[in-house]
Amino acid sequence: MSDVILQLDSISKKFDGKDILKDFNLELHRNEFVTLLGPSGCGKSTTLRIIGGFVKPDSGRVLFDGTDITNLPPEKRNVNTVFQKYSLFPHMTVAENIAFGLKLKKKSSKYIADKIDYALKLVNMEGYGGRNPESLSGGQQQRVAIARAIVNEPEILLLDEPLGALDLKLRHDMQRELIKIKKEVGITFLYVTHDQEEALMMSDRILVMNKGIIQQEGSSKSIYDEPQNAFVADFIGESNIIDGIMVKDLLVKIQGVDIPCVDTGFGTNTPVDVVIRPEDLEVVSKEEGFLKGTVTSVIFKGAYYEIKVLSDGYEWMIQSVNPAPVGEVVGLTVLPDNIQIMHKPASDDEEVVRDE
Ligand SMILES: Nc1ncnc2c1ncn2[C@@H]1O[C@H](COP(=O)(O)OP(=O)(O)OP(=O)(O)O)[C@@H](O)[C@H]1O
Ligand SMILES: [Mg+2]
Repeated sequence: MSDVILQLDSISKKFDGKDILKDFNLELHRNEFVTLLGPSGCGKSTTLRIIGGFVKPDSGRVLFDGTDITNLPPEKRNVNTVFQKYSLFPHMTVAENIAFGLKLKKKSSKYIADKIDYALKLVNMEGYGGRNPESLSGGQQQRVAIARAIVNEPEILLLDEPLGALDLKLRHDMQRELIKIKKEVGITFLYVTHDQEEALMMSDRILVMNKGIIQQEGSSKSIYDEPQNAFVADFIGESNIIDGIMVKDLLVKIQGVDIPCVDTGFGTNTPVDVVIRPEDLEVVSKEEGFLKGTVTSVIFKGAYYEIKVLSDGYEWMIQSVNPAPVGEVVGLTVLPDNIQIMHKPASDDEEVVRDE
C-alpha cells in the first residue's frame, strides 16, 4: 500500500471567472497532520470542499489511494469534515448527533452505543450524551462535532478552522486535545487555519498558501527558520523585512552597512529582501552595533520586551529579555546565521499580496 493516501493532481477552479486554484497539487501521507495555512480568501476552504466532494474542480483529479474519485459524491468518500461553526443538529441530543452517521450505515445498537462511549471519552465529554447542543459551550459543541466525525472512522478528517470561533484560552486547550486525539485514532488530518501559531504548534507539515498557490511547504521548523520568500516570512510571525543588496557571497549591505551573512549564490550587487526575526536582533552600545538607531518604544510583553529602534527611516522590532532606554541611541547586532536572504518577488502579484 502506498504511503500517499490522497493526491490533488493539477486542480484548477474558477469562481465568477476568477482563478481560485490554479494547477494546484497536494499529497497527503497516511497518518500525517498537514495544515493549510494562508490569509482569508486564498482558497483553503475551496481545497477542502473539493476533497470532500462538495465542490467540483474545473479540471484536474482527486485521487484517493490511487483511485480517481473526482466524480464521486461526498457520502461515497471516506472523508469527514468538521467546520468552523459547530454544525450539530439542534433537535437531537449529543448522543443522537454522534449516532447519526452510524444509523444511516445501519450499524447495530450495541455497536453504536459502544462508539458513542468511546467517542465521548476521546473528546473528554463523558456523561454529556443526554444533553442538548444548545446547553453546551462553544468548545464543548466543537468536541461533539469532532466526536461525530470520528465515529464514522474516516480515513481522512478535514478540519476547516474548527477552533476559529473559540476564545484564546479554550483554543489552546483544544489544540493540545486535537493532537492527543490525532495520536489516538491514527487517521490523516488535513487542517485549515489562518492562525500561524496554531499551524506551527500542531502540524507535521505546513503548506503556506496565498492566492491559490502554495508558497512553501515543510515542517514547522523549516518554515519558521527558512522562509523562502517575503510573503511567508511576513505571514509566519512578526519579522523585520528590509531591502538589501547582496554585495557578494557572504556579505549583505543593509542601510548602507556591509554585514556578514552565510548566504551564497545571489551574484554580486543583487537587490534582495533581508529578513531578521525580532528575537535574533540584539541591542548593544552604539559603538558595538552594525546599525545605529534611536529607541522609540519599549513594551513589556510578559515573557520579553518588545523594543522598537528607528534607524535610517526603518523601524526595527526587537524582542529582548532586557529593556532599553527610550530616546537613547543604541547599536543593533545580529549573528550571520540569523540573517535570511531572499530573492525579490518575481511578479507584481506577490508584491501586492505582501502589503495586504
Ligand atoms: N461558491 C462560491 N461562489 C463564488 N465565489 C466563491 C465561492 N466559494 C468561494 N468563493 C471565493 O473563492 C475565494 C476563496 O475562498 P475560500 O473560501 O476557499 O477561502 P479561504 O482561504 O477558506 O478563506 P477564509 O480564511 O476566509 O475562510 C474567495 O474569494 C471566495 O469569495
Ligand atoms: Mg475558509
